[in-house]
Amino acid sequence: MKVAVSYLKSDNYKKCIAKIDESKADFIHVDLCDGKYVEAKNFTTSEVTKLLSFTRKPLDIHLMVQEPIKYIDALALLNVSTITIHLDGCKDPAHTIEYIKSMGLKIGIAINPDESIEILTPYLNDIDSVLVMTVVPGKGGQTFMTEVLPKFDELNNIKDNYHFIIAADGGINGETISCLKEKKVDLVVSGSYVTNSEDFDESISNLK
Ligand code: DX5
Ligand code: ZN
Repeated sequence: MKVAVSYLKSDNYKKCIAKIDESKADFIHVDLCDGKYVEAKNFTTSEVTKLLSFTRKPLDIHLMVQEPIKYIDALALLNVSTITIHLDGCKDPAHTIEYIKSMGLKIGIAINPDESIEILTPYLNDIDSVLVMTVVPGKGGQTFMTEVLPKFDELNNIKDNYHFIIAADGGINGETISCLKEKKVDLVVSGSYVTNSEDFDESISNLK
């Protein structure tokens, strides 16, 4: 199981990003909130580019924004592995997906707790990852929602026909990780559990 660490809840972004970059995390998870798609607002693309231009680890970018397509050109200059979008934030989801792919980046689709996996149907052949939100997007430090767990079974049932990986985001810690192991999740995103700990590597090892 791979681990992406989010710095969303940290009070010193620069320091926290440097610590994640030096840790054994597989990815730095970059949460971008625009104050429209979600209530919270954090960074502009130029701020985020500044913060992440010196990091070495691949970036797992999660766009909690309206019209994610507007962010792609600037973000593509970074060391990006995957860009994950929310379909209900896009005017033209198919074009947005194609555009991200045309930049040579992997494309993920996030599924909110109140969305069903059926929203993926038109795009299943195109996507590299499905990010199941195990909290309502927008804030770090929330409680893991066990009611979304059946979605992992549904995804596992269709997975063999496609090439996407299954990822989970929100409320993941040393306890909630065990049900995700059972569900054969490929990648977990963890924020506060890792970034509130003294020893990032120890917390990441606990998750792995
Ligand atoms: C939630 C974000 C998550 C968040 C995870 O809106 O997408 O990536 O940072 O943080 P924790 O692990 O604290 O729930
Ligand atoms: Zn996220």
